[in-house]
Amino acid sequence: MKYESFAKNGFEVVKASNIEKLNEIKNIIFSKSIETLKKNNLKSPDDFFNNFHKLNLKGHALNNFRMDIIKTLKEKDTLKLIFEAYEETILGLIGPDILVQKSCNLVIQQPNDKDYVLTHQDAPVNSPFEIVLWVPLVNIFNTKGMYILDSKKSRIANDILKEKKEHSYFQDYSEKNAEFSNINYGSSLVFWTGLIHGCLMNKEDETRWTLNIRFKSLYSPCGHKDPLEFFRVLKMSPLSQIALKSQEVDLI
Ligand SMILES: [Fe+2]
Repeated sequence: MKYESFAKNGFEVVKASNIEKLNEIKNIIFSKSIETLKKNNLKSPDDFFNNFHKLNLKGHALNNFRMDIIKTLKEKDTLKLIFEAYEETILGLIGPDILVQKSCNLVIQQPNDKDYVLTHQDAPVNSPFEIVLWVPLVNIFNTKGMYILDSKKSRIANDILKEKKEHSYFQDYSEKNAEFSNINYGSSLVFWTGLIHGCLMNKEDETRWTLNIRFKSLYSPCGHKDPLEFFRVLKMSPLSQIALKSQEVDLI
């Protein structure tokens, strides 16, 4: 069965079915960076991304730079490019009626930066009927990456938190049982929002650049939140198109 590992463990490393679309995203970011930083001597996207920390961009300057890039990604409809790069996986996991998060997040994790994502779980704050696609724009290894606990270990970690009521036990268990994946550019980590995950300090001498974006089925339970506040329709099956039209529901 395809995506057997995802169904059992809640995550899987998947290869882009159309890497050209990922290259397009890399080039959009690289061109915008040259423009924003006013530097014409940047060699290549890979060299620029991995050695980004050598530019010494910190605090507000770094945040403004990141927000500029995110704005450009929105203007260029990067969500569609990500979907096209991983279309096979997303259709395989969700089906033909797909909602995508309205904005795509970009994380730039520089070596030895003390500000990094701690151990957490996206659901239940977000719906458990969603997937996260974590898309590295550089090669990922050791602490340059992120860690994840499979569904069984995530459940145990949550039980520890409930029983011991002290975060340190939960953190210790999570860090000891976490799995790090070395992921080469072109592949991504897709995971269920119910899994516990986080990062350690990036101790490698390269900067990590990753995009993350959530997808869900148009027909997934939406709980108390209006799904169209944070998500938009990306794709609809022919049946949904005609059926919703007959009900005078206009989602696109
Ligand atoms: Fe998260």
